[in-house]
Amino acid sequence: MNSVENKNLIVPVIPLPGECVVSDGRAGEETVYTRQDGIPSEGYMLICDDKGINVLYSDDKGRFYANKTLDMLKSYYKEGLPHLRISDCPRLKYRGFMLDVARYFFKTEDLKKLADALALMKINVLHLHLTDDQGWRMEIEKYPLLTEIGSKRSSTNGNFKKHEGFYTRAEMKDFVEFAKERHITVIPEIDCPGHMRAALAAYPELGCFGRKLKVADHWGVKHDIMCAGKESSYAFLFDVFDEVLEIFTGGYLHLGADEAVKTRWKICPHCRRAIQKGGLKDENALQVAFLNRINREYLRPKGVKGIIWVYDEVPDGLDEDIIVQVYGENAFGKGIDLKGHTAIDSDSAAYYADFPYGITPLEKTFGHEPDGTKVAGAEICLWTEYVKDFAKVGKMSFPRSCAAAERMWNNNTGYDDFVLRLEASNIIKEYGGTPVKAANPSAKRAILQKIWWGRRPLHWEGLKNLIENVAVKIRYTRGKHD
Ligand code: ACM
Ligand code: ZN
Repeated sequence: MNSVENKNLIVPVIPLPGECVVSDGRAGEETVYTRQDGIPSEGYMLICDDKGINVLYSDDKGRFYANKTLDMLKSYYKEGLPHLRISDCPRLKYRGFMLDVARYFFKTEDLKKLADALALMKINVLHLHLTDDQGWRMEIEKYPLLTEIGSKRSSTNGNFKKHEGFYTRAEMKDFVEFAKERHITVIPEIDCPGHMRAALAAYPELGCFGRKLKVADHWGVKHDIMCAGKESSYAFLFDVFDEVLEIFTGGYLHLGADEAVKTRWKICPHCRRAIQKGGLKDENALQVAFLNRINREYLRPKGVKGIIWVYDEVPDGLDEDIIVQVYGENAFGKGIDLKGHTAIDSDSAAYYADFPYGITPLEKTFGHEPDGTKVAGAEICLWTEYVKDFAKVGKMSFPRSCAAAERMWNNNTGYDDFVLRLEASNIIKEYGGTPVKAANPSAKRAILQKIWWGRRPLHWEGLKNLIENVAVKIRYTRGKHD
């Protein structure tokens, strides 16, 4: 097919958002690209007629997305495109997909495959959950033990199999560039102050009592978290962030901040002193002060936006320029008060792709409408406790992320039409996804999946935490700490 860039063609702008009309007639061979004022950023129009294919686009991103749609159309209409008119632009500026690479590590080749799929779906953010209790996955030159020790665990939930892996700085630089070429911003997450057991295993002094710990080898929330009362914790984080932001240049840093259990902070002399000195009400206020300090001293001066996880309540006193990623079930439907924060919708009832399809079927994900007046963006999230290889990443994410992406753009022609187009495309096959029928399982299959999923709390972590908490309290409230 020929293709030319046309600077002069005046084509009447079809009002965006959203139009898709296909009619009889075979489109001509020539492709003409025209940058067109009046089309919203990232938006595009395709007009195929006897003469050929007219691509009208707003900016480089719009041109890129127009080509993605053309690629899909061409893979379906192998004999040539029909006459058609399609116009579209995004409803949400931030259209994200999160992959947890901490619970299981995925190679950069896999990340590249994923980025290609995301680009096809016109998703523009890949959020990498790089660190957690069970693994630290990003090389940090100043703190080599983070990966030498923190990227390895001896076993997973009692399976006696080692698991390890991390990204070198060079690998990640290359990947960030690869993603950028596909108009995808890679957002790194360094989860703190909780979910830091892998870092604590490498550098015990980051914890409240300097306890010697192993990289966590079981799932479940841990009670040993980073100390928020020691100056050295902030120095460590700022060093780590320096190296991270040198590679991830998209202007965002995800700080996690979820599930930070305050058991240790309650009895830690450093944390108690910080609470007293700051005139803070309690440990929750200390976490807010911890995040605000990172924001004020580190992120703001660099022009980087911080993001944190929030379940269904935005903490009081949190700096307003910190973005909140809301994951509570139907938190927006229940009217969460955003307290002036910009929000990302990751409603776990619709957008947690680790849930079996029996709990979160494709139709449910498609049916969830991120409220574009309240949120800057939405993000589908794949936690990987039960996703140990890349084949399963495909099964869990596709086609659910296609459905989420569809609702992040304007051209919504309804679920049935979405499924028709989805099945006509090659996406599910190419990325090893779940067929539509299995992605909306029968009630019988759904019950079995719910039982399988429901077994998760049946591990010993809660009991272990209880016993350990008593032991720590006895030992460290009798003065045996550094
Ligand atoms: C989360 O699901 N803990 C963010
Ligand atoms: Zn402490």
